[in-house]
Amino acid sequence: MNEEQRLASQQAINSKSSSANTEKDYSKYFQSTYTAPSLKDAKKRGKEEIQYHKDFNIDEQFMGMGTGRKFLIRTYGCQMNEHDTEVMAGIFLQLGYEPTENVEEANVILMNTCAIRENAENRVFGELGHLKPLKLKNPDLLIGVCGCMSQEEAVVKKILKTYNQVDMIFGTHNIHRLPEILNEAYLSKEMVIEVWSKEGDVIENLPKVRKGNTKAWVNIMYGCDKFCTYCIVPYTRGKERSRLPEDIIQEVRSLASQGYQEITLLGQNVNAYGKDFENRQYRLSHLMDDLRKIDIPRIRFTTSHPRDFDDALIDVLAQKGNLVEHIHLPVQSGSSDMLKIMARKYTRESYLELVRKIRAKMPDVALTTDIIVGFPNETEEQFEETLSLYKEVGFEMAYTYIYSARAGTPAAKMQDNVPLEVKKDRLQRLNAVVNEYCGKALKKYDGEIVEVLVEGESKRNPDVLAGYTRKNKLVNFKAPKEVTGKLAKVKVTEAKTWSLSGELVEVIASEEVKV
Ligand code: 5AD
Ligand code: SF4
Repeated sequence: MNEEQRLASQQAINSKSSSANTEKDYSKYFQSTYTAPSLKDAKKRGKEEIQYHKDFNIDEQFMGMGTGRKFLIRTYGCQMNEHDTEVMAGIFLQLGYEPTENVEEANVILMNTCAIRENAENRVFGELGHLKPLKLKNPDLLIGVCGCMSQEEAVVKKILKTYNQVDMIFGTHNIHRLPEILNEAYLSKEMVIEVWSKEGDVIENLPKVRKGNTKAWVNIMYGCDKFCTYCIVPYTRGKERSRLPEDIIQEVRSLASQGYQEITLLGQNVNAYGKDFENRQYRLSHLMDDLRKIDIPRIRFTTSHPRDFDDALIDVLAQKGNLVEHIHLPVQSGSSDMLKIMARKYTRESYLELVRKIRAKMPDVALTTDIIVGFPNETEEQFEETLSLYKEVGFEMAYTYIYSARAGTPAAKMQDNVPLEVKKDRLQRLNAVVNEYCGKALKKYDGEIVEVLVEGESKRNPDVLAGYTRKNKLVNFKAPKEVTGKLAKVKVTEAKTWSLSGELVEVIASEEVKV
């Protein structure tokens, strides 16, 4: 944090809307502090050097703040948010709070929000509405909104105007300041708002309470500088900042020694890893090469951008070992014209060429993707190019979305002549192809023996265990509960559209795991 940000944060803590309910008050608020979000500021990319803080510590005065109190965090959106929740849970525990799943007994409820599409935001507003009676019943309850939505000016204004049950709003760059924010919320009956629109820092040694003890997320970088025209993430998550390799390697080593079996490296655009280092030539390929040598069965990463996916990375991934043969490579559209106005900076042809290069070195790779249909003015022919690309690549799975306009992004200003009904129809047609190809990919496993990392009881049927293969295929099978957390060989007896069913063959001893 630089001095200006420190002052700004202090100011945010000190200045609160005096009465959050009136138009007059919140407009005054927005003029008077630096810490209300601004998408315009968030868009700027300066040359300031990234500061690495290795010394996260909770101030003595806040210790014990949570004694006798319980917290609950609702998480929306991507794995980055899930992981932020693990960090905030870690901070809550250090402060002395206990976790709870029950809203009725929670003393603090945080909504860790997602801004990627409008329906994600509507769910949060709906949930805030449901929490209002609880707040009226229990005025000491603190309700907070954090995550990507809090980085949007329009959201903060709407909360100030309509949701006065909210006590705190803080942004994605501020989660390490949770103790200060909570403290201020306790001291004040007004809404506390601390949202920085710019953050150039990386903070290490944050506490974490990880969900489960088999798989772990590890951030390798924060932010995104790609500015795809439809996407709000570069505004809500700030500029690209890579963690130092030594910090990542140390975290993965420590997770391996604690018995974790699988690591997912996280970043909005992991292929840009290391681009921001001033004095070293160290990129994702180097990192993967170093992590390959750590004794842990599986390492994966998400999410890739095709643009920066280089040959050196393909060469390292092709060595497999603990690097899994699954790549999630969002394509978004199969039409070069659409890709151009999405500012993806690759074409249909160059994407297909990348796939060809990956497959040449990794013939058994599983490719999955993200696709947006109904981008402004997408024609039937352009949509059909997406269908044909899907089939040509033979993706094994995809997350598919109808385009959702996000205020402040360039695409939101584009005129759109595609009716919603047409967009919905395209999504359905695409999903039919996705299902068909997913089923086909799974069919190949019928009768085969697969390696499964067992996560525990299946969500749908507690009588069976569930886990995932290296290529991220869900496998359900009968086995004693003790197999949970281990790698097992499972014989596939049935391939369904979305999952495999099978029988336990044997648990894999750890020394056998190396491929
Ligand atoms: N509308 C619809 N989908 C979007 N995505 C990102 N922004 C939008 C938007 N405005 C999708 C992209 C991305 C995934 C995480 O979400 O497909 O890869
Ligand atoms: Fe959004 Fe991903 Fe594009 Fe970044 S690379 S702007 S996170 S879609």
